[in-house]
Amino acid sequence: MTVKSKLLELLEQHKGETLSGQAIATELACTRAAVWKAVKSLREEGYTIEAGPNKGYMLAKETNRLSVEGIRPFLAKPEAVVKLFKEVDSTNQAAKKLAVSGEAGHGAFVIAQRQTAGRGRRGRTFISPEDAGLYLSVILEPSETLKESLLLTTAAATAVYKAVKKVCGISLDIKWVNDLYNQGKKVCGILTEAITDFEGGTIETAIVGIGINLYHEPGSFPEEIKAVVGALYGDKAEAERIDRNLLAAEIVNLLLEETRELKLSKEYVEHNIVPGHKIQIIDGERSRFAKAISICPDGRLLVEEKDGSETRLSFGEVSVAIERHGG
Ligand code: BTN
Repeated sequence: MTVKSKLLELLEQHKGETLSGQAIATELACTRAAVWKAVKSLREEGYTIEAGPNKGYMLAKETNRLSVEGIRPFLAKPEAVVKLFKEVDSTNQAAKKLAVSGEAGHGAFVIAQRQTAGRGRRGRTFISPEDAGLYLSVILEPSETLKESLLLTTAAATAVYKAVKKVCGISLDIKWVNDLYNQGKKVCGILTEAITDFEGGTIETAIVGIGINLYHEPGSFPEEIKAVVGALYGDKAEAERIDRNLLAAEIVNLLLEETRELKLSKEYVEHNIVPGHKIQIIDGERSRFAKAISICPDGRLLVEEKDGSETRLSFGEVSVAIERHGG
């Protein structure tokens, strides 16, 4: 770890507090000149570090920049491999490369300030403007059989639900299977991709990609998308009030906790907005209407078909739209 990196971690941990140059030098086991050089370099990167004669250094309290140093102190497993990109095509792709090359394993994650080719489910694009959202992908080695993969997805939605509640104080709605909504608009999408061991039939590695819109950068979303896609906050200034490093760390911490033993969580069931509604089931080119009854313990959605028969829907086979008008 470089002096600059260690200094940033220390300043992030003491945001808004003044630390003397000598105390920092002692803590980092370097000279005061090395501290000064690192401060200069961080300032060049855009960090606001205040300093005064005989006063020491202080990272401005309102600093809210995504950084590995800012995330790490909040991690339940601070030794995890964490890669931050200013710009990347897709964090899922980057995480997959890390996992396949053996560079990183369970609990490692990739996070980016911006994605140039963010991927959604069913080949869709996930619009990922710079700093307007959190874009991260976690590597998991779940060692569960393939049929449990649905519970991996529900666990990811639960982790986001809990992290957003804890850090932002916002109680999101969950839409089966893994979308999260705020005031009727989608604010988070999850793309779980598996690297499977075909012989054993197990998921060797799963990449859980999570994208959360913090606010809408003016002009970044087409009007028709803005009608259905929302954000946690109304604008950038409002979004700056939460610590995005803390939110990222909590999502990862909770994801690791929720996936330790795969089961349907009470939060997933309680905050799910699908059961009780008439839904449209879109299955490739075909679609049909049914009534959503409940979430089964294995994560499938129990529905009542028009002829009164029951079907259990599985992730990947269909997508579901809630019918808001008509009976
Ligand atoms: C969806 O709702 O269709 C899923 C969207 C998933 C987006 C996230 S952003 C981080 C990760 N990297 C990607 O390319 N996709 C996921």
